[in-house]
Amino acid sequence: MNLPADNPHQDPSPFGLYHHPADASAGEWNVSRSERPHMYRIQHRRANGETHIDTVVDLDNLEAKLHKWRREGFVRRESGMAKKEPALRTSFISDLRATFAPKPEIADSLADSSASMALVGRIPMPRGAGGPLVPPVNPAYLFAARSDNVLLDIVENRRILLIGHTGTGKTSLIEQVAAQTNQGVLRSNMNGQTTVGDFVGFWTVKGGETIWVDGVLPTAMREGLWLIVDEVDFAEPAILAVLTAVLEPGGRLLLKERGNEIVAPHPSFRLFATANAVGSMGQYRHLYQGANLMNEAFLDRWRVYHIDYLSREDEAQVLQRTFGPRVTAAMAETLASIAAACREAFTREDLASAFSTRRLLDWTDLMLRTGDPETAAGPTIYSKISAEDATLIRSIIQHHIGPEG
Ligand SMILES: Nc1ncnc2c1ncn2[C@@H]1O[C@H](COP(=O)(O)OP(=O)(O)OP(=O)(O)O)[C@@H](O)[C@H]1O
Ligand SMILES: [Mg+2]
Repeated sequence: MNLPADNPHQDPSPFGLYHHPADASAGEWNVSRSERPHMYRIQHRRANGETHIDTVVDLDNLEAKLHKWRREGFVRRESGMAKKEPALRTSFISDLRATFAPKPEIADSLADSSASMALVGRIPMPRGAGGPLVPPVNPAYLFAARSDNVLLDIVENRRILLIGHTGTGKTSLIEQVAAQTNQGVLRSNMNGQTTVGDFVGFWTVKGGETIWVDGVLPTAMREGLWLIVDEVDFAEPAILAVLTAVLEPGGRLLLKERGNEIVAPHPSFRLFATANAVGSMGQYRHLYQGANLMNEAFLDRWRVYHIDYLSREDEAQVLQRTFGPRVTAAMAETLASIAAACREAFTREDLASAFSTRRLLDWTDLMLRTGDPETAAGPTIYSKISAEDATLIRSIIQHHIGPEG
């Protein structure tokens, strides 16, 4: 019998009641899903209704039991739950589809195509107030479909944590949305010298007067700026504690140092964080030394998006948009394929270093100046990695580029 181990919802389903049509005194066996993954619960109820066996077995064991019962003359009479389940499952999705719609306030703002809105990729978003902190627009930036939900979350004022390998496009996504919507951004990198004072604020003496200087967090909150906390997995606990307080929707900041002043968030304030190795990226922590584990309570306060590398097609497009006609479609495709092959080698753990979009763009840039991929790969790739990795990447490059023709 071929029982589906991972998805016991499919037919043939083992779930249900097994009875003996010719011998009511044999009682009934009931097979149901166990709370433990890939395990099954077996119960035997005697004819008098008393359950005297109640055990959890694995798939092999279950198959042996089913075989034995069948030999003894038991047949399945589907239990109420087993009968109901498929119908419930189908109706869940159709119910959801029937009620699914953007929240009314978002739908209103999306429908509003007035000058207060900017179309970012496919998503209309409210415009910001402008100012010197608006990042410059990168005309080559591609809003891939993967970012649609992030953009809608920004409109909804969610806290957004972007995780992914280095150079996949976490920071630039937020910056480019800000650039397109004319929204000022502050960035604070936690992997360095950022102190609680920089983040929250501090007292200082100026012209004989003691004055308070807001840190980046209260500045962004008061002025309606977006704050990107880069490499949040390196932040010191005191900063995480402050951050947690403002993660709740409408969360306020209590400035203890300033006599418990309360800072309420401006409606345009948004909070973002990026990290390389938290949550589902935790398996790569060894590559990002010094990164801290983020606890579940902290992660639960964010929408956590995994930003992977761009698809080969999208990355080829980015190359062409960045360098214009100097990079032909065929060149772009080859370069994107090299990056993809290096990433596959990285996933197989044949390579210890990731191949970022940043690295690909920089290599291409230098290649266009030197006219030689190998020379250009020196300062942009090989010098940054181990000799073994360089050898493998060189062979991947040569395989794709081929000899001079
Ligand atoms: N969709 C895109 N379109 C155009 N360029 C992109 C896109 N995504 C990423 N890039 C480019 O890739 C480079 C790296 O992106 P970014 O700095 O955002 O990566 P990151 O994920 O924040 O990396 P790190 O973890 O190292 O901070 C940038 O030069 C950016 O312009
Ligand atoms: Mg970044």
